[in-house]
Parts: sequence; structure tokens; C-alpha cells
Amino acid sequence: MEEKAFRRLLEDKTAEAEVIIKSFLPEETGYQRTVIEALNYSILAGGKRLRPILMKETCKMFGGDERFIEPFMAAIEMIHTYSLVHDDLPAMDNDEYRRGRETTWKLYGDGMGVLAGDALLNYAFETAFEAFKLADCEEDYRRISWALAFMARKAGIYGMIGGQTADVEAEKMNETLTTERLLFIHEHKTAALIQASMAAGAILAGASKAQVDDICRCAYNIGVAFQIQDDILDVTGDSMEMGKAVGSDESNNKQTYVTVNGLDNSYRAVEKMSEEAVRILDSFDMENEFLRELILMLVHRRR
Ligand code: IPE
Ligand code: IPE
Ligand code: MG
Ligand code: MG
Ligand code: MG
Repeated sequence: MEEKAFRRLLEDKTAEAEVIIKSFLPEETGYQRTVIEALNYSILAGGKRLRPILMKETCKMFGGDERFIEPFMAAIEMIHTYSLVHDDLPAMDNDEYRRGRETTWKLYGDGMGVLAGDALLNYAFETAFEAFKLADCEEDYRRISWALAFMARKAGIYGMIGGQTADVEAEKMNETLTTERLLFIHEHKTAALIQASMAAGAILAGASKAQVDDICRCAYNIGVAFQIQDDILDVTGDSMEMGKAVGSDESNNKQTYVTVNGLDNSYRAVEKMSEEAVRILDSFDMENEFLRELILMLVHRRR
């Protein structure tokens, strides 16, 4: 696919994800209005919408008819946004700039920052449960339940929260992180939600257990590469372009793939893991050229 054609498609798919996410957001009324405003502020700030796009494209690859996918697309972006809102809190990374605006806690205060994150997580599941209303046979119920269970697990202590825990604790460690611990952090804090996105897309389309396992290996490679690239951009990136601060890791004394392995090895690891992801993708009978291009584009992303 030509670069220009890919860029145009990506723009269209991002805009489409945007419309879907918006359609599930709560109305800003009642005594709880402030937390709803903070929730909407965080999620409407933009962002690449990578996870809902990956979900939909994986679903398409497995021939999914996309009936149930929309509430799940909105839900995964809510979970991801909550992880960012809490990640930015003073008690965690203490960042004041995200998605080109002030962070949620900076604008609404710490307490409302905590609550907006909680609200996003809970509302994600309220939203995903909407998919059951679109179900009309046993098989639909089976797929939706499986996708929900998968997403819940990957967001929790055996997924993103587990990774953030090890990440926060690593900041206080004096010795250099082992590769094993570093990969645990990257796999859990970042790859887990990429796995949830792609696996949910596959599951909703009716993929088998073996196919879901393969998709998870593919998403593991995409996710770890994505976080290594994020660590690289924290050093080499442009704050305006990324919409968030550079040098955040350094100011938190955080050990990252770059501090442990150096920039050159980090670039190589991103390339190698992205190639492995594409290799797994290519091993499926079905094709999705856009998904393939998307994985390769992430290697050189600047934001
Ligand atoms: C940022 O995720 C946090 C990481 C896992 C590195 P994204 O880079 O996908 O952030 P948005 O959604 O585009 O803002
Ligand atoms: C965060 O990693 C991953 C999450 C689960 C939120 P980072 O702390 O490196 O993400 P950024 O750089 O703030 O987006
Ligand atoms: Mg962090
Ligand atoms: Mg951070
Ligand atoms: Mg980072």
C-alpha cells in the first residue's frame, strides 16, 4: 500500500473511531456533573485511538460483521484513557500535559482526577455490557461474555494494573532492572491493553481459542515495541508533536528500555518485535493489509 493511501485510510479510521467513542459518552448533568465533565474532557482530548482501530481491524480480519464491536471499541478507549489519567497523577508520573492539553488532575484537582479515572473504568464496562442488547443467539452471548472476561483480566492485576505496580516500584530500586523485570513491566502496563483490543476483536468475530492465542502473541510484540518506542520518544521526541511532556521518565528517575539498553538497542528491539508481529499476522490465512501497514508505521511513529 502506498504511504499516502495508508495515511488517508488511517485518518478515516481514526475519525470513524472518534464518532463511535463520542456516541457512548455520558451527558453532563446532575450532581455528578463535574466528574462527567472531567471524564469527557480526558477522552475527548484526542489521542491516536490506536486500540479501537486495532480492535476493529482484527475483527474484520476474522470476518466479523461488526455488530457488537462498537460498544467494545468505546470501552477499550475508556479503559486506556483511565490508565493515562491515573498515570499522570502527582502520586504517579506527576505530568501536567497530555494529548495537547492540561492533564485531568491539573485542571480538575487530584480528587476529581482519581474519580474521573474510576468513572472511566466503570463506565467502560457499563458500555461494553450494552453489546448484550445486540445479541440474538447463544453464540452471540458466548462471544460477548468471553470478550468481556478477556478485557477485564487484561486491565487488572494480571494486566495493566500489574504492570503499573511493577513500574512504580522500579522507580525506588537502586540496582539496574533485569531484562525480565523490564519486559514484565512493558508486557503488562502496555501490551496487555493491546492484547485486550486485538483479542476482543478476534473473539467477537468468532475466532478459535488457538487463533486468539496467536493474536495475543502478535499483540504482545506490538505492545512491547510500542512501549519501547514510547521510552525512546520520551528522550528524543518533540513535546508539541506528542502532546505530552518529554523527559518525564528522567525527572521521575525511571529506568526504561532506553536507560537500561541504550538508544541503538532500543531502536533495534522496536524493529525486531514489530517484524515478529507482522510475521505472526502473515501466518493467518486471512489478510488485512492495513493492519500490517499500521504495525510497520508504529516503528517510526513520532507521537
Ligand atoms: C500512551 O499511549 C501510553 C502508553 C501506553 C505508552 P498512546 O501513545 O496510545 O496515547 P494516546 O491514546 O495516543 O494519547
Ligand atoms: C504508561 O507508561 C502506560 C500506562 C499504562 C498508562 P508511561 O508512563 O510511559 O506513559 P506516558 O509516557 O505517560 O504516556
Ligand atoms: Mg507511567
Ligand atoms: Mg506516564
Ligand atoms: Mg512514557
